[in-house]
Amino acid sequence: MTELLTVSDLSVVFDTPAGRVYANRSINLSVNENEAVGVMGESGCGKTVLFLSLLRLQQPGRIVRGSVIFDGHDLARLSASQMQWVRGRQMALVPQDHSTALNPAFTVGQQLDEALLIRDRGGGLWRTLPVGRWAGGSQARREEIRSVLDELAMGELVDTARLLGRYPHQLSGGIRQRVLIAMALLGRPRLLVADEPTTALDRASRAQTLEVLSALRGRMAMVVISHDLDAIRRTCDRVAVMYAGRVIETGPMDSVFGHPSHPYTSLLLSCQKLTRGQRLPAVGGDVLNLMDFPPGCSFHPRCPRAMPVCSRLEPAESHAGSSMVACHLYATGEKTC
Ligand SMILES: Nc1ncnc2c1ncn2[C@@H]1O[C@H](COP(=O)(O)OP(=O)(O)OP(=O)(O)O)[C@@H](O)[C@H]1O
Ligand code: SF4
Ligand SMILES: [Mg+2]
Repeated sequence: MTELLTVSDLSVVFDTPAGRVYANRSINLSVNENEAVGVMGESGCGKTVLFLSLLRLQQPGRIVRGSVIFDGHDLARLSASQMQWVRGRQMALVPQDHSTALNPAFTVGQQLDEALLIRDRGGGLWRTLPVGRWAGGSQARREEIRSVLDELAMGELVDTARLLGRYPHQLSGGIRQRVLIAMALLGRPRLLVADEPTTALDRASRAQTLEVLSALRGRMAMVVISHDLDAIRRTCDRVAVMYAGRVIETGPMDSVFGHPSHPYTSLLLSCQKLTRGQRLPAVGGDVLNLMDFPPGCSFHPRCPRAMPVCSRLEPAESHAGSSMVACHLYATGEKTC
């Protein structure tokens, strides 16, 4: 398999009046052509910051270390205008919050048309939006928009002609999510990143969104960021688990979900396997403050398997079967990362 995206040793920080926030720390992650990778981890562990940073959209966060190679090019070295050609066309993001991601002042048709214009002519947002009443774009653009909506089986849910004339507030969450996916697909990206695509959706919309992502699987590379572990299991080939700004376990879906190696992954997954009447296993201790890390493994104050070395040394990544794990339980020798 050919690697499309390779993130190596990436660290992203925010300098705030209260101090430095270490949002991503020494991240190693790869995505192969046509592979679907799930990214999971508790709220605030740095999932969204990571992918916004790859697209250089994470302001005022900044990359202080590491490299991001996409199809052989180091994204950190591209000029601002070169990055515009990467965003949407090479790597497209379906943003986390579907309720605020669309522009409330323009119709769905105008916004999809704009996505196409930007793809074909370049430029950034707001440069090309048709002002006033939207006449429907060119025939070719209209056909392309309709074909993407058909691809997403939008016609089964709504009258697509009416949908194009609607404003975002007139749509359900599920339809808004699909419009955002359609917008991303119009760029014909090689990597689609869907950030929490099933969050805040009702059961039917969640199921429909998962169907859409499953249908796209294998046609392009995909990253699905989610708290919804079942969504990841159903749409991805490989998974990366994040804790406190770091990727602490990566591996094939079956290995990570079937035989998790890192104690944090085990706890996270055990919450999903509960049967009726069982108590939720709590991850004890305080949620980590990304400004102030404990020495050693950042999970050690909460880890049920912590050893003396864990509070002294930060674990490097080691092989554990077909997975990579940052945990002293799998270390072959004492190393700092
Ligand atoms: N603009 C900002 N200024 C300062 N710190 C920030 C900023 N944006 C994000 N952070 C920090 O980065 C951390 C990671 O944020 P991020 O949005 O990536 O979390 P996440 O894993 O996507 O969480 P969720 O699952 O809730 O979406 C946050 O905990 C926060 O401390
Ligand atoms: S390094 Fe130690 S504290 Fe950290 S997860 Fe592994 S066993 Fe637990
Ligand atoms: Mg997020």
